[in-house]
Amino acid sequence: GLTNTKEMFAKAVEGGYAVPAYNFNNLEQMQAILQACVETKSPVILQVSSGARKYANATLLRNMARGAVEYVKELGCEIPIVLHLDHGDTFELCKDCIDNGFSSVMIDGSHHSYEENVALTKQVVEYAHAHGVSVEGELGVLAGVEDDVVAEESTYTRPEEVEDFVKRTGVDSLAISIGTSHGAHKFTPEQCTKNEDGVLVPPPLKFDILEEIEKRIPGFPIVLHGSSSVPMDQVEVINANGGDLKAAVGIPEDQLRKAASSAVCKINIDSDGRLAMTAAIRKTMNDNPAEFDPRKYLGPARDSLKELYKHKNENVLGSAGKA
Ligand code: G3H
Ligand code: 13P
Ligand code: NA
Ligand code: ZN
Repeated sequence: GLTNTKEMFAKAVEGGYAVPAYNFNNLEQMQAILQACVETKSPVILQVSSGARKYANATLLRNMARGAVEYVKELGCEIPIVLHLDHGDTFELCKDCIDNGFSSVMIDGSHHSYEENVALTKQVVEYAHAHGVSVEGELGVLAGVEDDVVAEESTYTRPEEVEDFVKRTGVDSLAISIGTSHGAHKFTPEQCTKNEDGVLVPPPLKFDILEEIEKRIPGFPIVLHGSSSVPMDQVEVINANGGDLKAAVGIPEDQLRKAASSAVCKINIDSDGRLAMTAAIRKTMNDNPAEFDPRKYLGPARDSLKELYKHKNENVLGSAGKA
């Protein structure tokens, strides 16, 4: 069956790698994630946002994720699979997911006051743990769009709060804010410098804050949201085939490699997958204008997505071979 994150994270922290948390909203995304993780023998966290539940229907998504366990057996490798609620914002939503087969939930109370965040998170933890479900909390606010909340600038996690938060809430992992953000436009070109190849290099993540957090809660599982790298070649394919994406800059892979070697044991990636699918669909449609069978463009999109995730597991997160 589906597993919670307890043992998965303990192994990842110990082994100096991060487990991929990939979002899915439909069949092709789920297939790509599972195929990639089976082929690289990687543990995996399948993430569902509240937007995904609205889009695809909660019942269908839940049953797809249950099917995932059988599907990977068919593919020949029983990798550990977590079904996780991404950015839960209320106790009721978390409870609904726990009651409906999720093995992990995030309660994102980071937009509330500290004390309200503690109280809400603790409430979710009590219910979740009574059902064998693990809980991710968050301290600090990422810049960019998080569902309906838009923050202009990051509020970095305050290391002096983490120990108290973890103790009082009982969370199993903690998402932190050290300079990542959601979406494909994480930095403006003005915030970046150009390297010798003319590539825009964003300011580095706040590894000093991460180190300070690790000192306060040694070995505690840390989560990084907003960790897409926004590959320039995918953006170029999109724009060469009728798209119009401007100034898309993400988190460089070397930064994520460094993070994965620390107590960061879960890295969230959604936007890169969206870019890969969009690039493949645009190109396939442009190259084959007479084609109108959805499988003819969703198939290549799925294959491209799979290659992207294999690359992440093998070359960035270090989760390949750890299943
Ligand atoms: O953090 C947000 C994830 O990328 C999910 O995005 O809320 O549009 O499904 P979504
Ligand atoms: P990206 O937008 O960088 O892919 O982040 C996804 C995420 O954090 C999902 O929770
Ligand atoms: Na790690
Ligand atoms: Zn997120």
